[in-house]
Amino acid sequence: MSDETPISHSHRKLIIAIDGPAGAGKSTVASRLARKLGYANLESGAMYRALALKAIEGDASFDDEAALVQLAHDSRIQLEPTLGGNRTLLDGVDVSERIRERDVTEAASRVSVHPRVRAWMVARQREMGTGGGVVMEGRDIGTKVFPDADLKIFLDADPVVREQRRMEQQKLKGEVLPNLAADLRERDRRDRTRVASPLVAASDAVIIDSTRLSEDQVLEQVEALAREKLGG
Ligand code: DC
Repeated sequence: MSDETPISHSHRKLIIAIDGPAGAGKSTVASRLARKLGYANLESGAMYRALALKAIEGDASFDDEAALVQLAHDSRIQLEPTLGGNRTLLDGVDVSERIRERDVTEAASRVSVHPRVRAWMVARQREMGTGGGVVMEGRDIGTKVFPDADLKIFLDADPVVREQRRMEQQKLKGEVLPNLAADLRERDRRDRTRVASPLVAASDAVIIDSTRLSEDQVLEQVEALAREKLGG
């Protein structure tokens, strides 16, 4: 079966949540699964990144929750999933590349700790996914955004392997970032220890450890679970 072949003709449109730490392989499996199902792949992290970029551009403090919430209300953050990949628009401008840069990555980790920022994001994410037919990835999709999701995956991997994967990705982009491992560990720590919606597997999530699995193997497992849910 080709990568593009839809796996089911069922009319039921699932909400699929894929959560886990950075470098576990969420983005790849989410986008490939979405393509197979003909679903939208919504990267919730891109929304936190877009708000972080707005804060950088507006010189807002990453610690000022009230200012960040106001900024969120004043922003138009759009996720545009297409078969060719996902675009993120901030106030109508394509910021898909910019939001992957190091300063935004660091800022996103900091703005996402605030409960009221998260509440704003969760409300937008629910609006986008409610109709189903979505593979939404993030940190709190199965626990907070869609606690009733049809399928919840928690994708994890050994921290050393996740760091290596990120380094490979940076190399492919032609970037060499000093402190990548330390930065990743610090963002992990923030994700897991924040008071509001810390990164944790939902009690009914299927936990997949991708440490020794290829991308194809992870996709195979997740696809099989989705097939089961679709009754196929
Ligand atoms: O997945 P990502 O690296 O693009 O996410 C960017 C940041 O946003 C990351 O620091 C974690 C945070 N995030 C979050 O707190 N909740 C989500 N649902 C998605 C991302």
